[in-house]
Amino acid sequence: MLITRIRTTLKFFIIWRIISIFVVQTYYVPDEYWQSLEIAHQMVFGYGYKTWEWQLKIRSYVYPFLISITYKLLAILRLDYATLLIYIPRVAQAIVSGYADYKFFTWTKSDSAIILLEFNWFWYYCATRTLTNTLETSLTMIALSIFPWKNSKYRNSSKFLWIVGFMCVIRPTSVIIWIPLCIYHIFQTPKNIYKLFNEYLFLVLCTLVYSISIDSYFYGEFTFTPWEFFKVNVLNDIANHYGTHNYFWYLTSGLPVVIGLPILYFPVAVLHIIKHWQFLSAQIISLVTIIWTLGIYSFLPHKEFRFIMPLLPLFIFITTSVYSRQKFKFSASIKQILLLLFIISNVLIVFYTGMVHQRGRIDAMNMFRKGYVVDNPSEADVLFLMPCHSTPFYSHLHLNISMRFLTCEPNLKNHPNYLDEADYFFNNPTKWLDKNYNNCTLPMILMTYDNIVPLIETFLKNYQPALVLFNTYFPQTNSGENFVIYKRKF
Ligand SMILES: *[C@@H]1O[C@H](CO)[C@@H](O)[C@H](O)[C@H]1NC(C)=O
Repeated sequence: MLITRIRTTLKFFIIWRIISIFVVQTYYVPDEYWQSLEIAHQMVFGYGYKTWEWQLKIRSYVYPFLISITYKLLAILRLDYATLLIYIPRVAQAIVSGYADYKFFTWTKSDSAIILLEFNWFWYYCATRTLTNTLETSLTMIALSIFPWKNSKYRNSSKFLWIVGFMCVIRPTSVIIWIPLCIYHIFQTPKNIYKLFNEYLFLVLCTLVYSISIDSYFYGEFTFTPWEFFKVNVLNDIANHYGTHNYFWYLTSGLPVVIGLPILYFPVAVLHIIKHWQFLSAQIISLVTIIWTLGIYSFLPHKEFRFIMPLLPLFIFITTSVYSRQKFKFSASIKQILLLLFIISNVLIVFYTGMVHQRGRIDAMNMFRKGYVVDNPSEADVLFLMPCHSTPFYSHLHLNISMRFLTCEPNLKNHPNYLDEADYFFNNPTKWLDKNYNNCTLPMILMTYDNIVPLIETFLKNYQPALVLFNTYFPQTNSGENFVIYKRKF
């Protein structure tokens, strides 16, 4: 097979991911821009929007700080073109993801595992995005590849802990996955327990020092973001503002979507592991990690597909390593058909999600920046009449212009019957517009969705359509199939 010949080269994995940057051209979630590029842009160029998370200090600056290093270099070289600001961080993530895929291969040493990983649509869709979940997933793969599994050459090594520490800085919830794995490490290690304790202590101290230093520096006062994060999200239930799902959502929707067809084989693998547990310590601990993590995540009301992405490598490891031990085997041709089915279904999903679904949200910003709407975008001002964070923001324009969108801050001050600005607008668009744009200069550019147009017809009398961009066949609430850009009549 082709894979067998090219598999061992790191170059192959990196090129595979870099190509995927150009396949995946769509918008997934706001955090990809608003919690990363936007903040880095603000750090280096002095303008950029900071969402409420940054006012409450619940996000760590460590991740945007890494991106800001590339921005700073581009600024010094006077190469700070918007296109480079958009793509360089993605290329950097693609290289990390490619390296992670390669390390995953050196760990599993399995062709099937690498096919399930490289063609998993969800990983393909996310692997080059500037999401902390993406970096977390790559780092998980790297850490697993040097984890002190029984009989592995890393049996005596605790190096993986440095990666885990860093991961927990950029995403505090990573702690959850690593609790069972670290317990396993502590009980299985041939090392002296005092020596191990010292290693953990040293690691925790170093991690705290660099994360607190970076955050305190950029927030301008002493800040320990994981604690603030915990207070806001867990004690005050703020995350529920962004939607809740029932307890079984990860089982019924999350896993099937993220893992895809191989999930059907998973119960067989679990039975096998339970039967032969004495010989399968790595599989047992992976399974415990998965069950424990899903159990905890299921208690948190706000659930998203991307949150369980770091479990993907463990799933693939379990499925493929158990299959190769089974007495029962699919015949060679059945196995090929199954793999082919898996690949084809995933490629189709990638084409839709990566090239079609929600592309208008990004195209709009690019077309506007490139002058397809007004000749001189740096002199325009923009109003977004659509759900909050529907598009990337300053990071995709690199123009210091005035822009306003409908905010969606959670109920931070505990007002009874709280409505955020976007809710307020969608309840009664005319009322909101009258209140905010009465007797004042109207914004030069208006961006909205086609399904919102009939709601704001009176207001639109002042505007003429400038550009209509396809967005999606399956719009979410309050967003439409097409993205529409209007220009003020003079
Ligand atoms: C960006 O524009 C605002 C408003 O005009 C101005 O106050 C601010 O100083 C500008 N920032 C930079 C870095 O140019």
